[in-house]
Amino acid sequence: MEKFVPVVVIKELGETEKILSALKANGINCAEITFRTACAAEAIALACEKFPDMSVGAGTVINAQQCEAALKAGAQFIVSPGLSVAVAKICNERNIPYYPGCVTPTEIMQALDLGITTVKFFPANVYGGLKAMKALAAPFPQIKFIPTGGVDRSNIDEFLAWEKIAAIGGSFFVKEALEKAEK
Ligand code: 3PG
Repeated sequence: MEKFVPVVVIKELGETEKILSALKANGINCAEITFRTACAAEAIALACEKFPDMSVGAGTVINAQQCEAALKAGAQFIVSPGLSVAVAKICNERNIPYYPGCVTPTEIMQALDLGITTVKFFPANVYGGLKAMKALAAPFPQIKFIPTGGVDRSNIDEFLAWEKIAAIGGSFFVKEALEKAEK
C-alpha cells in the first residue's frame, strides 16, 4: 500500500480534481475519499477516471451499503473509523483491502478472525499514539498499523521510524498540498 493516505473530504464534486491534482503534485499518489459528504461515491468515480495512476479508496465507510456504493464507484481500498464485520465480508469476497479502525486487543482479535492484519489506529493521538501501538504489537506481532487522527508534520517522523507502521493517514496531507498549490 501507499505510505501516505490523505483523508479527503469532498464537499462539492467540482473540488475533486483540484484536490487530487494538488496531492499528486506534492508526491502523494493516494486519496481516501470519505463518505462524510453526499457526493463521496461520485467523487470516487471521478477520481478513478481522471487519476487512473493514483490509488483511490473510500474512507469513513461505516456500513455495507456505503461499501457497495464505494466499490461500485471504483474504490480500490476501504477504510473505516471502526470495525464493521459486514464491510469486512464484502471486501474479503471481492479481494479488496479493508483497513478497519482498531484500538483495543478485542478489536484486533476480531480483525485477525476476519483475515485482516493491517488496521487503522484511530484516533491515534487520543488512544495513546506510538506507545499504545507498541504495547499492542507485543501480543500481536503480525499486525501493522495506520495511525490516523492528530498526525501532522510535528509527529509524523516518530511514527515513520517504527517498522510496524504500514502507512500514515491524515487530513493534513490535503491541507499541505492545497497550501503549496496556491502559492
Ligand atoms: C479520519 O477520519 O481519519 C480523521 O478525521 C483524520 O484525522 P486528522 O484530521 O486529525 O488527520
